[in-house]
Amino acid sequence: MSAYIYLDNAATTPIDEEVIDTMHQAMKDFYGNPSSQHASGRAAKVQMENARRVIAGKIGAKPSEILFVSCGTEANNLVMRSVCQTAEIRRFITTPVEHPSVGNVMKDISKNYPVAYVKVNAHAQIDISSLEELLQSSSEKTLVSIMHANNEIGALNDIKKIGELCKQYGALFHSDCVQTMGHFPIDTQDIPVDFITASAHKFHGPKGVGFLFVRNPKTLCPQIMGGSQERSYRSGTENLTSIIGMAKALEIAVSDMKDHETKIRGMRDRFLEKLTQAIPDIEILTPQAPNLYTVASVLFPERMSVETLGFQLDMKGVCCSGGSACSSGAGKPSHVLEAIGANQKKKGLRFSFSRYNTTEEVDKTIEIIKELSLELMKNLENATI
Ligand SMILES: Cc1ncc(COP(=O)(O)O)c(C=O)c1O
Repeated sequence: MSAYIYLDNAATTPIDEEVIDTMHQAMKDFYGNPSSQHASGRAAKVQMENARRVIAGKIGAKPSEILFVSCGTEANNLVMRSVCQTAEIRRFITTPVEHPSVGNVMKDISKNYPVAYVKVNAHAQIDISSLEELLQSSSEKTLVSIMHANNEIGALNDIKKIGELCKQYGALFHSDCVQTMGHFPIDTQDIPVDFITASAHKFHGPKGVGFLFVRNPKTLCPQIMGGSQERSYRSGTENLTSIIGMAKALEIAVSDMKDHETKIRGMRDRFLEKLTQAIPDIEILTPQAPNLYTVASVLFPERMSVETLGFQLDMKGVCCSGGSACSSGAGKPSHVLEAIGANQKKKGLRFSFSRYNTTEEVDKTIEIIKELSLELMKNLENATI
């Protein structure tokens, strides 16, 4: 039983007990190097290919379209860096609200290739007509990278529609599905997408492992060279225990997806409703449905210091986030809040939920926020007397 109320599941999720057990056993049984030719190596290789088959099956892909990597960041870097070298991509289209593992690579790439940004609205949802205008504006071979769901705000993009548009204009399409894999059905036979990024630790799997769906592996150019693992597209001895854990986590996530969604969406909506009752002048950044049901992103009124609120919540045992985990320590305003034109005087907190949360935790958190808000108000009044 956790000692705190963990509402930071968009940063990472607790590992499923069944996944831990599976990994524990795999660590004992399959320690061989999957590249070794002897029986122990062959047994490890069988497990690895089985995991690949399981993962591929859950997203309508072929096993040969799944590449194991160390994390979502690596997969995103691999795609962006590759396509200039192999697919003759000469132009990029993306959004200003991507995770830094896309956004910062795009900034770097923009030294050599044009990068255009699709317009987003105040809830970080992309403007599909802006994408079409950009696609129409040049005949240069283009890669479009648009995330399925935004990690800070919870905006959800229609990747089928985006993929169809990309196909119509002959552009390659990459989608960072780190926040949605295992939370929404993703069928690569139905969605015209060339690359999908996923990371196990966002769907109750282990950290330090992810996968890239790649429709045509020839569009990839190895960025890590060495032995010939992963058909030379990604060298380095595979993290087999974690790969097995990732497959198990995805299997569980997909098999109970609808129940998980109903439970989590119910808790998230309850949280937002009660928070609005408690502090009516909050601003909810997460758009109305369809949205990423795990995330509640909220701007608090100026009179409430969010730094103090976040700190006090932490002191009271509630874990939430002031933005994405990767940038929240940096003390800089979030690029996402900047891009959506949020009032910079107001600060936001992100509460993100998982199937392990309970309604009691939601209600307790609201009570704590109410108490803290009253205290903050009292302190403010005393300071102005
Ligand atoms: C949308 C998105 N993309 C990519 C990443 C990076 O994934 P990883 O932590 O596996 O590198 C994250 C992690 O927060 C994310 O939320």
